[in-house]
Amino acid sequence: MLIRLYLPEDLLRLQEITALTFGPVSIDRNMEQLLGEFGPSGWEARKLVAIALDCELQPDGVFVAVDSADRPIGYVTTRLQPASGIGWIPNLAVDPACQGQGIGRALLERALEFFRERGMEVAKIETLEQNPIGQHLYPSLGFQEVARQVHYALKLLPAPTPPDT
Ligand SMILES: CC(C)(COP(=O)(O)OP(=O)(O)OC[C@H]1O[C@@H](n2cnc3c(N)ncnc32)[C@H](O)[C@@H]1OP(=O)(O)O)[C@@H](O)C(=O)NCCC(=O)NCCS
Repeated sequence: MLIRLYLPEDLLRLQEITALTFGPVSIDRNMEQLLGEFGPSGWEARKLVAIALDCELQPDGVFVAVDSADRPIGYVTTRLQPASGIGWIPNLAVDPACQGQGIGRALLERALEFFRERGMEVAKIETLEQNPIGQHLYPSLGFQEVARQVHYALKLLPAPTPPDT
């Protein structure tokens, strides 16, 4: 396994890994399960757009783990926030067939190295209560919990027609 910089031709494969992995750890999917489908596309399509946006906004901060044939097997995306000195990690995923081999940890370490190289002072990442791996992996790298957030959603039904007066 090697970790290299993202190339535009990786995007479809990164999106494939995203679709394979994010179902159990997606707020958007939780909403869809609770409220039913909404919007012009489902949670998965929206998540794939989010990964494409990560790659567009900070392509020099997307690191890709590849196998011996240079096929992506995992990735981490990052965002530099120089105004605050925070390096943010919006997304991280490893192909289920390759999980549990230290690839996620190595990708996070690469992201932290990138933040140091670029003068960031703090690294930030979020995880869901329903994600036990994140809650184990991030503290094991030195991340400390700073807050918990509760997400609410409301299905907007058409307003009732007022009675004739
Ligand atoms: C999170 C993810 C990237 C980790 O990738 P990975 O390559 O398997 O990670 P690693 O092998 O480096 O480490 C996984 C760690 O979690 C631990 N782990 C695995 N299953 C676990 C579980 N159910 N509960 C707690 N810890 C668990 C492993 O033991 C390992 O810890 P260790 O290094 O101390 O032994 C991968 O699970 C994934 O793609 N998940 C779906 C997407 C996701 O959750 N992304 C992060 C959003 S916050």
